[in-house]
Amino acid sequence: MAKKYLIVLAQEHFEFRIPELESVAGIFKKRLLDIWDKQLIDHSLSNHVDESLQIQNEDDEKMSIHNYFNQYDTPYILLHNVSEQDVKNIMSRTILAKNAYEIWGYGKTYNDMKKSILEFPEDAKKSCFNSSFCIRVKACGRKMSIPEQIKIIDSLEDVLPFEGEVDLKSPENEFHVIEDYGAHKGKKFSGDPHYIYFGRLIADGQRNLLQSYSVKTRKFIGNTSMDAGLSFIMSNVAKVKPGDYVCDPFVGTGSLLIAAARHGGFVTGGDINYNILHARGKSSRVGAGYRDKDETIKDSLKQYELQNKYLDVMVQDNASNAWRSPLNMCHGIFDAIITDPPYGIRERCRKVGKNKEVATSANEPTIHYPEQTAYHLDQVFIDLLTFAARTLVPGGRLVYWLPIYRPEYSDDIIPRHPNLKLLYNCEQPLKRETSRRLLVMEKCEKEIADCQTNGASFNSDAHRGHNAFRNKYFKTK
Ligand SMILES: C[S@@+](CC[C@H](N)C(=O)[O-])C[C@H]1O[C@@H](n2cnc3c(N)ncnc32)[C@H](O)[C@@H]1O
Repeated sequence: MAKKYLIVLAQEHFEFRIPELESVAGIFKKRLLDIWDKQLIDHSLSNHVDESLQIQNEDDEKMSIHNYFNQYDTPYILLHNVSEQDVKNIMSRTILAKNAYEIWGYGKTYNDMKKSILEFPEDAKKSCFNSSFCIRVKACGRKMSIPEQIKIIDSLEDVLPFEGEVDLKSPENEFHVIEDYGAHKGKKFSGDPHYIYFGRLIADGQRNLLQSYSVKTRKFIGNTSMDAGLSFIMSNVAKVKPGDYVCDPFVGTGSLLIAAARHGGFVTGGDINYNILHARGKSSRVGAGYRDKDETIKDSLKQYELQNKYLDVMVQDNASNAWRSPLNMCHGIFDAIITDPPYGIRERCRKVGKNKEVATSANEPTIHYPEQTAYHLDQVFIDLLTFAARTLVPGGRLVYWLPIYRPEYSDDIIPRHPNLKLLYNCEQPLKRETSRRLLVMEKCEKEIADCQTNGASFNSDAHRGHNAFRNKYFKTK
């Protein structure tokens, strides 16, 4: 019997879970489509009749993974055609998968599950029977009392002749009975489970990084610093690998670069705000006064022993950044661009420019501070796509957030560029009428040369004009 592995996903950022898993599997040269065992989806759909989720043909299959997980909202995904090492590789990167199990048995009832455990290869089981172990019972959406759990564990004794010591603290093997109650959507369940699995825990995901990289424990933060979880998810969907060259053109306090550096990328970026990149001005921490000298991106990387991944950051305006070399020297230099552009809500959206023509005189001071002018959001995104289409390597990914006014949203407004293919578009609600969407685009292998400088388009009324999105944001609930 070929082995199967169960991955239990976190019950948060629902729309981001499959894009993250698919991208992380891609880093290790696995296609989620090839390793995803549809046995569970078939089973779930037969319990939960929803025509729109049925797989009609091979072409629907890819969409169906996303539809199924977005709509059916299950935390369980079964993998096959993979080795234990493949699964461990995936778990070594993912934030949105909690645990992975080698499945010994599963079924609609406890009896079916026990029969299936008996069919699991004897030699694979035997090696575990003499080691220390513990068994726990888990149910997503249901709390189970200790006596209930003990009853279930005792009922497995006839198919699991463990001889090793029970060790609840650090067992050599930890086994879980997992009760699946179907679509979750935050509901609490009672009654019988729809499905039950028994598996050996083989790896945890990287959720411990949410604590160890929390912005709360970081010295250098700003009022728009991206939280650690989303930063790692962005770096994962960007498929950042060791040795990659990664850029954030709106770098701020560098949270996204920290995640990319942790994944092995060499990081660089730019920001128009001199103070933020040079540890000047007031700290965003309440009552902290002026920034200390070590409130820099380089020092933040040092905090995590990642300073060897730091290239440098530049004070520059993304509308006219230093990588726009007229000689095309910066063509195809970045493996990934991950960024959170300004929305004009908590930080100003400005670019270098003149508000009015001022006559110059021969006595002008030698130090010149460039004047800044309004930077309309639609132009911010057009410039970003133009920048990415030029500077990404073929197959490199651009990952960024787009603020959305929900009443006026349709997929048609998503910024486009002929040389960038949209892969994912995942929503994170902010308020009832506003949200932001994480957009993941990949540079086409064969690019259209004519479109390099003027191919980007973005037609959205909500983003056009000075402070257009800001005004909507503050008027909405
Ligand atoms: C949403 S914040 C990015 C926050 C960042 N991800 C972090 O974790 O700190 C947007 C950043 O864009 C910068 N910015 C605004 N206009 C810019 C421009 N024209 N060129 C480059 N950076 C700009 C702002 O100074 C701000 O730091």
